Amino acid sequence: MQSNKRPETMERITTRALADAFIEEQVREVRAQVGDKKVLLALSGGVDSSVVAALLIKAIGKQLVCVHVNHGLMRKGESEQVIEVFRNQMDANLIYVDATDRFLDLLAGVSDPETKRKIIGGEFIKVFAEEAYKLDGISFLAQGTIYPDILESDGVKAHHNVGGLPEDLKFELVEPVKLLFKDEVREVGRALGLPSGMVDRQPFPGPGLGVRCLGAITRDRLHALREADAILREEFDKSGLAKKVWQYFIAVPDLKSVGVRDGKRYEGWPAIIRAVNTKDAMSATIEEIPYALLHRITDRITAEVEGINRVLMDLTPKPVGTIEWE
Ligand code: XMP
Repeated sequence: MQSNKRPETMERITTRALADAFIEEQVREVRAQVGDKKVLLALSGGVDSSVVAALLIKAIGKQLVCVHVNHGLMRKGESEQVIEVFRNQMDANLIYVDATDRFLDLLAGVSDPETKRKIIGGEFIKVFAEEAYKLDGISFLAQGTIYPDILESDGVKAHHNVGGLPEDLKFELVEPVKLLFKDEVREVGRALGLPSGMVDRQPFPGPGLGVRCLGAITRDRLHALREADAILREEFDKSGLAKKVWQYFIAVPDLKSVGVRDGKRYEGWPAIIRAVNTKDAMSATIEEIPYALLHRITDRITAEVEGINRVLMDLTPKPVGTIEWE
């Protein structure tokens, strides 16, 4: 097992050749650690767990069992991409659990942000543990722990939620990227053949759209949020802003205003655009968005998304606003 301290002599992985060398070394180490045993991985589709999945598929193939829990709070197309990349392209042993109804039923009527987070985190562990109990012969748990997680905490990723698994599901850990920084994880992911849409993905909170559908989540407002967010991402991609802006998303408050559509009164929710730049998420500045692009995004969201009748832009840096609204 690797220690939790990055050796002073470890070269920063900045090139394809260095990434390839790292992959070769890890494939050897993982095979030596795991032997012919099985490994379980909670695959969220985020950068870290996706890179770990691709690395372990290369090392041990079908001995890796990936579980993707769709909590119904993913961005548009993200669960579909996990299935496409890992099951269809990489031929992974992937268990897909659509737990949307379980999560949304539990969240119905709950408006307090911290309670929402606890419900989502707790239910995630439950669903994942249920899947783990169904499987025979699992000996290891893989985690997408990366070096900043070790530097900042006790090494267990809170938002991966597997830190809270029941005692009888405590497996030996496999953490092949735990000494890497984020840019190195992305470099390794590219070398493993993961699509750029996955490797260069923005940070996404564990509770997902749950903390962007503000207040008590309803299915119709969550749907509107997901569609508006997809339009924002599409327009940022097309304009090149996606490469420049650290994190951007839509939040939809539980608030309606009066509007007019097709000559009739039309009450709808506002979609709030948040687009920030930061180094470490401790503080953040606001990205300047060209007005022409803001107009296009507004036109598209109000025309294409059922239930949204206004688009607003959040110009608040952090501090005083946090990046997320909840
Ligand atoms: P805030 O809103 O605190 O966010 O300025 C800072 C960064 O952390 C992300 N974030 C979360 N990530 N679970 C996560 O895994 C969470 O509950 C959570 N809340 C915020 C946020 O997206 C931003 O990148």
